[in-house]
Formats: sequence, C-alpha cells, structure tokens
Amino acid sequence: MRAVLRCLGVAMAIGVVCCALSPPALTSAFADASAANARSAAGAASQTDPAPVLTSQERAVLLALSPMPLPPPPPDPANRFADSPPAAALGQRLFYDPSFAGPLLDSDNNGGPQSLGSTGQAGRVACAGCHLPTGGFSDTRSFQRQISLGAGWGRRRAPSLLDVGQAKLLMWDGRRDALYNQIFGPLESVVEMNSSRLYMAEQIRRKYAGDYRAIFGPIPPLDDPTQFPQLRADRTGCQPKNRSDPQPLCNGPFHGMPGDHAEFDGLSPDKQRAVTAVVVNAGKAIAAFERLLRCGPAPFDAWIHGDAAAVSQPAQRGAALFVDKAGCVGCHSGPFLSDQQFHNVGLKPQIVQQAFKDSGDRGAAAGLADARADPLNTLGRFSDGSDGRLPSAIAPAMEGAFRTPTLRCVSTRPAFMHTGQLRTLAAVTSFFDRGGDSSGYPGRSEIHPLGLSEREESDLVAFLQSLDGPGAEAIYRAP
Ligand code: HEC
Ligand code: HEC
Repeated sequence: MRAVLRCLGVAMAIGVVCCALSPPALTSAFADASAANARSAAGAASQTDPAPVLTSQERAVLLALSPMPLPPPPPDPANRFADSPPAAALGQRLFYDPSFAGPLLDSDNNGGPQSLGSTGQAGRVACAGCHLPTGGFSDTRSFQRQISLGAGWGRRRAPSLLDVGQAKLLMWDGRRDALYNQIFGPLESVVEMNSSRLYMAEQIRRKYAGDYRAIFGPIPPLDDPTQFPQLRADRTGCQPKNRSDPQPLCNGPFHGMPGDHAEFDGLSPDKQRAVTAVVVNAGKAIAAFERLLRCGPAPFDAWIHGDAAAVSQPAQRGAALFVDKAGCVGCHSGPFLSDQQFHNVGLKPQIVQQAFKDSGDRGAAAGLADARADPLNTLGRFSDGSDGRLPSAIAPAMEGAFRTPTLRCVSTRPAFMHTGQLRTLAAVTSFFDRGGDSSGYPGRSEIHPLGLSEREESDLVAFLQSLDGPGAEAIYRAP
C-alpha cells in the first residue's frame, strides 16, 4: 500500500494566462412560454413519465450541439503533418508500439492482465496500454479502472482520445498545447513509459528509419555510437529512490533527457536538438493518427434532426434539462459538448485505487503556466506555426480548474472526472445536482445546486447515454 500523494504537474511559477468563459446556459426565463406550459401540463397528467416537450429555444440550442456532419478537427498550424495520411499511418504504428518504454517499476506490475508486465521488464508500455482501443481509447485495464498503472501509478484518470483532435490545449490542466509535444509527457514520466527522448529517437532509427525518411526527410545517425551514446532499455528513464513504489516525479538519477547530467546533456546543442526533433516528428505522426479517432454521430443527432424514435422519452426530457434547467450547456457546448475551457466544479478528491488521493491539485493554474514555459510548445522552434492558442494571462479562476471533457461517447468511459472517483453517470449528475462538494479543493467552485428531482437526474443520464456514437473505425483499433 502506498502513500497518499499530490498531483503530477510540476508547478512553474510564471505570471500568465487564461480564458473567456462560455456562453451562459438558457434560463427558463428565456424559454418559450407555451411549450413550457405544455410541459408542466404534461407533467401534471403523468407524474412519472411526462411527455417530452421542447421549447423553440431549447431546440435551437440542441441543434447547435449537432451540426451534421460533425466537423473534423480544426487545422493545426503547429503540425504541418497533421492531416498527412502517411504520417498518420506511421503514427498508428508508433501508438501501438511498446518498445519505446523503459523498465516497469512498481511492484503492482505482477504480470497479470491488469498490469503491462512484470517489475523490471522494459518495452511493455505503449500509448495503447492506457488508451485502449477496446475502451474508447481510455484505460479499461488498470485495477479498479480509475487511474493508470504504467511503470508506476499516475494520479489522474486517462481521458478517452475520441475527438481529441478538437482540443488545442490538452490534458486535464492544459499542461500541453499540441498533440505533438504531449507525447514527451508519458514518454519521460517515471510512472508512465519511464523512458526518454534519446532512447525513443534511437529506437525510431532502428525500427522505422525508412518510413521516417519518406515523411520527414533525413534521420540523424542515431545508431552510430561514436556520435550518439547508445542507451539500453534498462538504463533509459528514471531510477527512483524506491523502485517498487515510484513517485510521480523522478527522485533519482535519470538518463536520455535534458537535465540528466549524462547521455543527453553530454551531446552538443545541435545533437540535442536533432534528438528532440526526431521525437517531435514522431509526435507529429502520432498526432495525425489521433486526429482520426472520432466518436461519430449518435442517436441524439438522429433525434434532433427529425427521427423522433431515435432516443427514449427520458433522453428527450434529459436533452431539454441539459440545455435549460440544469445549465450543463454553459460548459458542455458545441458539437462535442465541451467549450474546451477550464472550470472549477468544486470536486473534492477522494481516494481512488485504494491508496491515492490527488489533493492540492491546482489544475489549470499550474498546467497553463507549464505549457507557457514548455520549450516544446507551439511558440517554440519545433512548432510549424502558432495560432495564439496559449492564453496570455492566467486568470484567478484557473485555480483548481480542469478542462471540460467532451461528452460524446461518454457512457463508455470506465470512470469519470480527472480523479476517476465517480463510477457512474448517475453519480456525476447527482454531483452536479448538489452543486459539487462544499470544500476540500483549491480555488472557488463555479457551480450551484440545481434542485433536480430524481427523475430529472435519471433523464439527464438517459440523455448522456444517447450521445454514444459508433466510436473509432475498426482500422484504427489495432496496429
Ligand atoms: C500509463 C498510462 C498512460 C500511457 C502509457 C499514456 N497515457 Fe496518455 N494519458 C494518460 C493520463 C493519465 C492522461 C491525463 C493526464 C493529465 O491530464 O494529467 C493522459 C492524457 C493524454 C492525452 C490528453 C488528452 C486530452 O483530452 O487532453 C493525450 C493526447 C494522450 N494522453 C496521448 C497519449 C499518447 C500519444 C501516448 C503514448 C506516447 C500516451 N498517451 C501514453 C495515461 C497514459
Ligand atoms: C461550470 C462548467 C460545467 C458545468 C455547468 C457542467 N459541467 Fe460537466 N464537467 C465540467 C468539468 C470542468 C468537468 C471535469 C471536472 C474534473 O474532472 O475535475 C466535467 C465533467 C463532467 C462529466 C464527466 C466526464 C468525464 O469524462 O469525466 C460529465 C458526465 C459531465 N460533466 C456532465 C455534466 C452535466 C450532465 C452537467 C449539467 C448537470 C454538467 N456536466 C455541468 C464542467 C461543467
């Protein structure tokens, strides 16, 4: 059993950043009076099962959630390979390849189906190890299905990657501003892949040189030991103080990345840049693949576009609640039901996976500062262009704020919220209904009690379930 710990993010104090909030939800004051009356009359006629009636306002707001066809990911000027099919094909292979990973550490890695191998084994953790194609690219593998066991235990839940191409600021806290630089996080985290950019670059040279060249041009002679020290799988990444119970931040010697006082730091600045550029390009390929992962149209879309029988009556009532009385659309807006902004919803972290509690997590207040300071960000030399996605100041409201998750395909997720502490959609709607927790989290909550009846809560759940589309195409669900 291991110690209760703080968050993964490395706080870097930088005075910066954030963002305007989304449009307010409709209030009943705006609702079409006659339809609202019809609804209460229907409610009086049948307490248990009132016929769903939408006001014209509610219908208009719901239609805005459902442009048909659903839009593809917006262009990504930071990655000129974002929509390149050959890059995506290479990215798909890299996504499923565990051979970039260093050794597994935590003693919970017991070789069983809920771990990726046994302690000490290297080459076991692929991206797909925590973003499972059979689980909507979320983690349905690790014990208790809340947080993830890679080389060690992380502290936050692995989000689904369906529709991730819609997001410009990534992670629960906005710590990354592009898919291409996001991969450095899991690669160099001691509790995820426990590896390094030098090792990954050398593996790419060994295994993918031909494909790499065809897309990105020449690859440095990373296999020449006179030019680049050859890292072994058992030396890449971190050797933490307590190997069987690694903490999220490396607290021992590490190898193959900046600050290692060893293989990477010993390279000339040009060679360091060349190594990083190979992994950035791998990230650009993986990004091109990730942009193809979509939830796709759901019964909700068919219903709001005229197929009256596509969703149940509770789901129809839930749809009206979502955009009106319950105010969910204030944050869960747009075709993917996320404003892609950061909000404090007053979640008091609970213990998950028996021993871990993500308390004191400042969320976007720390994450956005990290993204601003990241030399790999979209303003830096490895980016192909910038579109101003990084906020220029960090608003006080970012304290304890997390990114609004998309809600398409939400019901297939193994657990909910950044902590993974809520196990069912009913628990989530009940959380929002009571206005979140009263204390025990950083910052100030934006939400308030809603006064929903039990039936209204279950109607909301039925609506959320009507957002499940077919998920990623079969060709993307395997290497
Ligand atoms: C050990 C488990 C694990 C592995 C391995 C892993 N991830 Fe993740 N992934 C997570 C967790 C946990 C988060 C959320 C962390 C956070 O926000 O602090 C995440 C977040 C993400 C996000 C951000 C999604 C969003 O909506 O913001 C992307 C993209 C992603 N991972 C892609 C990858 C890729 C690509 C790889 C392989 C290079 C990878 N992951 C490897 C667990 C993992
Ligand atoms: C103030 C903005 C805001 C409002 C209003 C809001 N949400 Fe959310 N929602 C969020 C944020 C932010 C999270 C993630 C919070 C976290 O993980 O700490 C979230 C998480 C969720 C999740 C979990 C998804 C996942 O992948 O973990 C569901 C489901 C959800 N909201 C549904 C709703 C419903 C239904 C309503 C209306 C009753 C609602 N939300 C109102 C911002 C909001």
